[in-house]
Amino acid sequence: RVVILDFGSQYGHLIARRVRELGVYSVVLPHHAPLAAILRHRPRGVILSGGPASVYEPGAPQCDPELWQAGVPVLGICYGMQLMVHQLGGRVVPAARREYGPATLHVDEPGRLLAGLGARVDVWMSHADRVEVLPPGFTVLAHTADAPYAVIEGGDGRWLGVQFHPEVAHTPRGRDILANFLFRVCGCRGGWSMADFVERAVSALRRRLDGARALCALSGGVDSAVAAALVHRAIGSRLVAVFVDTGLLREGEVEEVRSTFSGLGMDLRVVDARDRFLDALAGLVDPEAKRKAVGETFIRVFEEQARRLAAELGPIPYLVQGTTYPDVIESGGGAAATIKSHHNVGGLPPDLDFELVEPLRDLFKDEVREVGRRLGLPTALIERHPFPGPGLAIRTLGAVTPERLRRLRACDRIVREEIRRAGLEGSVWQAFAVLTGARTVGVMGDRRTYGEAVAVRVVASDDGMTADWVRLPHEVLDRIARRLVNEVEGVNRVVYDITSKPPATIEWE
Ligand code: XMP
Repeated sequence: RVVILDFGSQYGHLIARRVRELGVYSVVLPHHAPLAAILRHRPRGVILSGGPASVYEPGAPQCDPELWQAGVPVLGICYGMQLMVHQLGGRVVPAARREYGPATLHVDEPGRLLAGLGARVDVWMSHADRVEVLPPGFTVLAHTADAPYAVIEGGDGRWLGVQFHPEVAHTPRGRDILANFLFRVCGCRGGWSMADFVERAVSALRRRLDGARALCALSGGVDSAVAAALVHRAIGSRLVAVFVDTGLLREGEVEEVRSTFSGLGMDLRVVDARDRFLDALAGLVDPEAKRKAVGETFIRVFEEQARRLAAELGPIPYLVQGTTYPDVIESGGGAAATIKSHHNVGGLPPDLDFELVEPLRDLFKDEVREVGRRLGLPTALIERHPFPGPGLAIRTLGAVTPERLRRLRACDRIVREEIRRAGLEGSVWQAFAVLTGARTVGVMGDRRTYGEAVAVRVVASDDGMTADWVRLPHEVLDRIARRLVNEVEGVNRVVYDITSKPPATIEWE
């Protein structure tokens, strides 16, 4: 396997991806990980990612300088290469001309890294600093018109640096360059697959949770379900799963979770806390206040349940969470700038004394899904759209009442049914209804109505960070609109949300 040190590059996660696509398992660690933490993974190679900083600035992110004595091959990408140069005695300076976009690499001496690529290679550059003086013992493998040191090699061929980004699609032969590093320089064998992941994760979990009990909170979503199924595969009935019915879930969700996990033979406790959530939300209209109320109520309910279970079963030292790699990045756990912190239901109760078990921490969404498939979870669950922790509460603009929740739940079912019927479920990120709280005048039969406008939101996205509205066929929009007005009491107008993210967000609150 390979360790990737993350210096805050927007492409950091892509490197991990590409390496895994080449059949080599990769783990992303923060840049400041001490050498011991790196070596614990027994890496055959280390990759230093790009990053927004300049190595010569005070406080610029560094890696453990001991790395250079560890005898492990290192590939530095962009900032990673500059750091290599900086730490090994060369010099990096601001570039007179910044290089952004496509460039042509002229190969002077292919070495192992550029073997088989020919004399000219199209690459993608994005940097404002450049290497001015190479460290002792380094040589140039390739240059571009603007960068005399575009690919460098040192340390008897173990240390390699590329100024461009081999991980992005705009570097067409990037995959071959990474493959050369992994197979020719590091001597990786490849052949890693998700099946290996499951096998290794299960045996690691067995070792770690040896004889002990673990608790997990299911949210109805993919991540917590897969994490629970994985831990269940490892420790069986020593895992207890709690599912809190907040009353803010979609239609049929509670039954679905119950039948899936009881079917897997899991010890599942469904807690009916619907009234408590309604009480906590009573009178609240501010979105943040609602999120907070839901989050806090969840924690309280979960805490009570944990105490009750400990009294019944004995100590439960571990808490399983479905944290995935994007969560780690998003919450600022990686080096990339903190983008947003979600008040995640299913999050860790802060004053409960658990040791966290996060078996999916290194995985991307589609990898999590693949693990779920291998563990035999139903397709409907695995392909489920994301659903926010605060649930329907943040899609019911204004006051949350049982009646409005019923209304929204009916609208949500219709939207999802029609998207599925149109065969679009797999190609959209989310499709849902929002009760806008706007009252509008309509006419039905011969009577004037004064009902509520419902918004339909259907977006495409890769990761939820940016999104675009989906150009639904007019027939589909028409069917949705007609059904909403005809079938759901109190709805007399339907609008389609055509804003992208940014500037809007996906959810309305
Ligand atoms: P926004 O509305 O921020 O949503 O564009 C981005 C993605 O995150 C989901 N989301 C949440 N998920 N807890 C969650 O677990 C939350 O509080 C929350 N808020 C938004 C949203 O559904 C979308 O997929």
